Amino acid sequence: MKTQVGIIGSGPSGLILAQILHLQGIESIILERKTTDYVLTRIRAGVLEQSCVDLLRQAQASKRMDIEGIMHDGFDIAYSGEAHHVNLKKLTGTGVMIYGQTEITRDLIDLRRKNGGVIIEEAEVTTIENITSKSPIIHYLKDGVEHQIQCDFVTGCDGYHGASRKSIPQDILKTHEQIYPFGWLGILSETPPVSKELIYTRHERGFALCSMRNEMLSRYYIQVPIDDKVEDWSDDRFWDELKKRLPKDAANKLVTGPSIEKSIAPLRSFVCENMRYGNLFLAGDAAHIVPPTGAKGLNSAASDIHYLSNALIQYYKNGDEQGLDQYAEKALKRVWKAERFSWWMTNLLHKLPNSDGDSGSFTAKMQLAELDYLFESEAALKSLAENYIGLPY
Ligand code: APR
Ligand code: PHB
Repeated sequence: MKTQVGIIGSGPSGLILAQILHLQGIESIILERKTTDYVLTRIRAGVLEQSCVDLLRQAQASKRMDIEGIMHDGFDIAYSGEAHHVNLKKLTGTGVMIYGQTEITRDLIDLRRKNGGVIIEEAEVTTIENITSKSPIIHYLKDGVEHQIQCDFVTGCDGYHGASRKSIPQDILKTHEQIYPFGWLGILSETPPVSKELIYTRHERGFALCSMRNEMLSRYYIQVPIDDKVEDWSDDRFWDELKKRLPKDAANKLVTGPSIEKSIAPLRSFVCENMRYGNLFLAGDAAHIVPPTGAKGLNSAASDIHYLSNALIQYYKNGDEQGLDQYAEKALKRVWKAERFSWWMTNLLHKLPNSDGDSGSFTAKMQLAELDYLFESEAALKSLAENYIGLPY
């Protein structure tokens, strides 16, 4: 088999890229190691920057999002028992869109099927051969049989655990990583959200977040020790702990119910600086991971795809390789800023290992001083807001 762009992974990165290329008449094949049904069960964040919304509109994948997505003009940060409002709209002129990543994936898979585009499911990419040549070859296994696809470019959109980053020689690979000593226990429940907007909470018992998917579907998270197991957390224990961390007002209003999904996610910051190696281009989680505080995962993937799709279009339309040559540098510049913001927000709001409560450690005092400063200084709050709504591409 042959194609122009071989795309590894049918997460949001691979699917958005395939759709934008399709609109420009550029052919691609997506290889996905799981089934589409499995891909659609993964629950991820649902806060979209305006630039991500614009990219989905450019991809003509926004029909349902434009109807069902909810615009939020701000969110709350709660600490020391009180909620403080961050008015994004007033501070920056724009807000964010609430629309689940699972729904974006569903819309893009539907589009791909409608367009007759190829997604080879249950196809596990094993190696990429001749990466530095003009015609790299992707090797994959399907039903135990080895197949290959020859292409002009390979795009590694295969997430953190994918095969593409591993194809870069060890002596060239340049990565940076920080692992946080706690996780997020998240539940999804068919209950009305406790508040119209999101509430990020710093509490001496640990961080908590109230989020949502729609008016009858809520998403809540609490910070838990990294080695806790989901089985340790009955729904009742989760709700009790969440209530203890929320400001009284929110705790009293919280509507609880059975969880329809419950999972623990580790928190990690990671950047692979080789976003290009030969004719392999990495995008999204394959190249970088952020802790979820601030919801920059999908949004950073979207900015990669913006740069990468423009570069590929420039190449196929004009034979101009400049965009491809500049891809890694441009993408990384924005990625590092999203990394900084997610790291900062994580450190500001979580119970850190050497902190032992509001009246205790120096770290906790620093968090509280920084939070006080944020809500006393419009300049400080504006900086938070400008990062939250997303820095320019
Ligand atoms: N062969 C084929 N497919 C693979 C392989 C492989 N060897 N390894 C991984 N994959 C697939 C995974 O099964 C997954 O469906 O690649 C896809 C990667 O998708 P995501 O993990 O969603 O990565 P990405 O599209 O970059 O996501 C960006 O979505 O996952 C979130 O936190 C992430 O918010 C971020 C955004
Ligand atoms: C979510 O709704 O899942 C969510 C929202 C905001 C975040 C992280 C996750 O910062």
